[in-house]
Amino acid sequence: MLDKIQQQKKAAGEYAASLVENGMVVGLGTGSTVRYFVDRLGERVANEGLDIVGVTTSNRTAHQARCLGISLADVDAVDYIDLTVDGADAVDPQLNGIKGGGAALLYEKVVAKNSKRNIWIVDGSKQHAELGHFPLPVEVVSYGEQQLCRLFKKHNLNPILRLDEDGRPLTTDNGNNIIDLHLETIPFPEELATWLSNQVGVVEHGLFLNVCDEVIVGGDEIQVLKRE
Ligand code: A5P
Repeated sequence: MLDKIQQQKKAAGEYAASLVENGMVVGLGTGSTVRYFVDRLGERVANEGLDIVGVTTSNRTAHQARCLGISLADVDAVDYIDLTVDGADAVDPQLNGIKGGGAALLYEKVVAKNSKRNIWIVDGSKQHAELGHFPLPVEVVSYGEQQLCRLFKKHNLNPILRLDEDGRPLTTDNGNNIIDLHLETIPFPEELATWLSNQVGVVEHGLFLNVCDEVIVGGDEIQVLKRE
């Protein structure tokens, strides 16, 4: 029996899978909500002969998709991606969001930026009046990461280097590390995004601004929010 949040994730994922059409190149995001989406896509491939090519955003999703018989292509092998479906850690009313709770933000952003349409699938707990409650993940190269932590501290960004289950710095699929910024509130997301992008050693940050076209919120009734 799924709890309420899992039911919402499943409903959002399955609804998004119904939007995928034959012939599409589909960006496959990462996370527990996307898992439901990919499961349903796999069912559609097996039962309806849905003919799609997936472009994945993490090793985890690639493994799941392969197991389900979904054809995959490298992001560089396609001209563009028709539709990407991904999760999010927090979404504001303008459909800006924070991503990277699952450490896949770099590939997620690359895939999103090469997609004609981006849909996020979320449960109700991800909706916030403003961003910041969820710690902002920043992917950094390991060389000099303590210096970056010091810099972030100096700017009151409350950095914490993310550790894996063994207590070692967590390594992303691209071999980098993650520093989470515990901010509580981000009054000027554009400014922070620009500042972070300009710091040497920062590979990418988890602020996804003006990226998402639609958010699907799972529930007994599906809500579809569109960016204006
Ligand atoms: C992965 O790095 C993230 O961006 C996920 O998309 C995000 O954390 C949402 O995850 P859940 O669907 O598991 O909540």
